[in-house]
Amino acid sequence: MIVVNASKPVAAISSTMWGVFFEDINMGADGGIYAELVKNRSFEFSKPLMGWSMKGKRTKEGDVLVLNRQDKNTANPRFLRVNLHQGSSRELGIANEGFKGMGIKKELTYEFSLMFRHQTKGTTLFIELVNEANKPIGSGQLKLEGEANKWHKQSVTFKATEAAAKAKLNIWFEGTGFLDLDMISLFPSDTWKGRRGGMRKDMIQMLADMKPGFIRFPGGCIVEGMDLANRYQWKKTLGPLEERQLIMNRWNVEFAHRPAPDYFQTFGLGFFEYFQLAEDLGAEPVPILNCGMACQFNTAELVPLEQLDPYVQDALDLIEFANGDASTQWGKIRIAMGHPAPFKLKYLGVGNENWGPQYIERAKVFQQAIKAKYPDIKLIYSSGTNPESDRFHYLDTALRKMKADVIDEHYYMPPEWFLKNAGRYDNYDRNGAKIFAGEYAAHVDGKIVGSNRNLWEAAIAEAAFMTGLERNAGVVDMASYAPLFAHAEGWQWAPDLIWLDNLNIYGTPSYYVQKMFSTHKGTQVIQALINQKVVAGADQLYVSAVRDEAKKELIVKMVNTAANSRTKQISFQGVKLAKVASLLTMSANLTDKNSLDDPSLITPKAASLKLKGQTATVQLPANSFLLLKVPYQ
Ligand code: AHR
Repeated sequence: MIVVNASKPVAAISSTMWGVFFEDINMGADGGIYAELVKNRSFEFSKPLMGWSMKGKRTKEGDVLVLNRQDKNTANPRFLRVNLHQGSSRELGIANEGFKGMGIKKELTYEFSLMFRHQTKGTTLFIELVNEANKPIGSGQLKLEGEANKWHKQSVTFKATEAAAKAKLNIWFEGTGFLDLDMISLFPSDTWKGRRGGMRKDMIQMLADMKPGFIRFPGGCIVEGMDLANRYQWKKTLGPLEERQLIMNRWNVEFAHRPAPDYFQTFGLGFFEYFQLAEDLGAEPVPILNCGMACQFNTAELVPLEQLDPYVQDALDLIEFANGDASTQWGKIRIAMGHPAPFKLKYLGVGNENWGPQYIERAKVFQQAIKAKYPDIKLIYSSGTNPESDRFHYLDTALRKMKADVIDEHYYMPPEWFLKNAGRYDNYDRNGAKIFAGEYAAHVDGKIVGSNRNLWEAAIAEAAFMTGLERNAGVVDMASYAPLFAHAEGWQWAPDLIWLDNLNIYGTPSYYVQKMFSTHKGTQVIQALINQKVVAGADQLYVSAVRDEAKKELIVKMVNTAANSRTKQISFQGVKLAKVASLLTMSANLTDKNSLDDPSLITPKAASLKLKGQTATVQLPANSFLLLKVPYQ
């Protein structure tokens, strides 16, 4: 028997309880939510012509060159020079392969744009999309205008006549003399909120559907960088696109036995866009900043304490950028970028998966400076990587001594660990630091290799664990699964919450588990007893219950890890129930998973359930997760 007592509130549930963790890993940003279709648009990848190839006949050696104006432009030094000599009529061209090809939709409008400098007026560009069979599926023409020998921007839109999953972009030239090209770009018009140069709509819609309480950005290890030169620096991600200096992505490495991809961060998606996304989603923005330490799994490069000031200043300036008014230096920059209202930043993370006394020393410097100027900003600190390690315990103790606001715990562990730890927070100190379960996922086999290991076995273990997070909302303020996205042809890490290719997307079973929790968050945890006790996993059941005072609903989440179907009675106390409840059920074989071919194999199934007075009788299938929602008077 399960007894849910609505008159026994256990704790208030933070509005940030369930959120999302975004990182540019697995082609999450470039080639992912950032809808740019051209790869290496500014020729700044380590090999300047990565993604590009030459087309047609070149009359002489050196017809197409990459030039570097490093002395004048450090952020975007390279451009392409095409020599059209005494005249070329579409004999010479260049082609871009996109990120694993370009996903093109029939009848959709595309905007081609570029920066150019022509020596002789009268050049025309013929832009053409071709499908996998090299058949044209959309074209446009752009007659270049403006004074000779000066840089200009121009664009043209055209419609695709057919769809293709792996199209290419060809650009043919007609004209005379030198033609310099930079920032060559192609965007679909169906971006999220229709923003020009915006984000891929289907990906953002998946997040919006989760109604996340927060979005953590720009990631985990990419914050740290392989070395400090390649750490994430938010100030370099603002302003005109052509001034945002790209860097190599931290995940451009051989990882999990997969070869290094051509993976760069172009920062078309920068901090302004992340804040704007948080606002669009109704989620609290949770930026994480480098604390003067590069990735300790790699170079472990450290900034000496006496040289930490610029890092701390970046944090102070970020708060001003997000919240400052027009009288402040950084508030003014946000306003000039088109957002007069503050972004209302409340949380800031100092470091990601950093550890050791070196981390604590640096965290203290940040704490002192930030709290002195912005006492209300809640600071999030890292507790390293493995919750079972000495490293973790050292950090946890040191951070509590510092009176940390929030401690960020990460666990990528086998499903059994999640089941065993569903009571992890039952005895955590309610008066100390709050917990941010900042990155977690159940890893079947304990490995991070093997494309799509998002089995039901992993998702059900996460659901069981999440009942423990929810029951402990008195100490757990925030939680997010990680990583969020993976491109089926360009991933470094698995499992992930959402998988996609250039045109399609699907949620894993873990995605639906996350969504069921985050869209049924409630306002207060209430007592739920299994056989008169609060024991996670008793009778192979994991249960949590919340009350939503605004909607007048009681919501019970139940996980049955038994291999057989069972009937359970739930008795409700403390409020008078309506006559009918609604039920969402997820169940499957432990080895089942969703895929691009079968995206909805495991999704919640809805049903209604008649109540008998104050009692509900529910059927729990083998290995199932159920959500029962009961209106009350
Ligand atoms: O989520 C993938 C990686 O896992 C993150 O970048 C890092 O914080 C963690 O090690």
